[in-house]
Amino acid sequence: MAAATCLLLSGVGNAVADDDKNAPQSDNRTQVIMHKNPGCGCCDKWVDHMRSYGFSVVTIEDPDIFEFKEERAIPVPLMSCHTAIVDGYFVEGHVPANDILRLLSEKPEHVTGIAVPGMPLGSPGMEHSRPQSFKTVAMLSDGSAYVYATHAAGENFSKADREASPAPAPDPQ
Ligand code: CU
Ligand code: CU
Repeated sequence: MAAATCLLLSGVGNAVADDDKNAPQSDNRTQVIMHKNPGCGCCDKWVDHMRSYGFSVVTIEDPDIFEFKEERAIPVPLMSCHTAIVDGYFVEGHVPANDILRLLSEKPEHVTGIAVPGMPLGSPGMEHSRPQSFKTVAMLSDGSAYVYATHAAGENFSKADREASPAPAPDPQ
């Protein structure tokens, strides 16, 4: 089972930064630094998702990723496979890029990071023929969390697909 494998894998690799080789030398894209277990493939698929939304991503293979999560005060129930740092926030697991863009524009008070706990099938990087609905939660500095976004089973997170057929505008209130 992919989820267990990803969480239990404990490699012995060194911390290797794997920068986006196609990135220009200097640009103003938002930088993402992602810590992952060596050998975990779903993390790399999430990186592809993030790059497609214009983020610049550096990957760090980190055998001590649990300690990294603990240092960031990420509670165990919110944990997933990889942990990214974006503009001072932690982003835990397979969080859709649009939720991160919203976080960076709203900057809600006292929020320290957002997470998609576990590894829900159908989340970005966890593409699957049987997608699940899942929630993105925001964590506050006092350790409490609230639902930040809800995602229906089968939601399409591809930027290209969304631009090809934008979601209908919500009904005016
Ligand atoms: Cu994963
Ligand atoms: Cu991962």
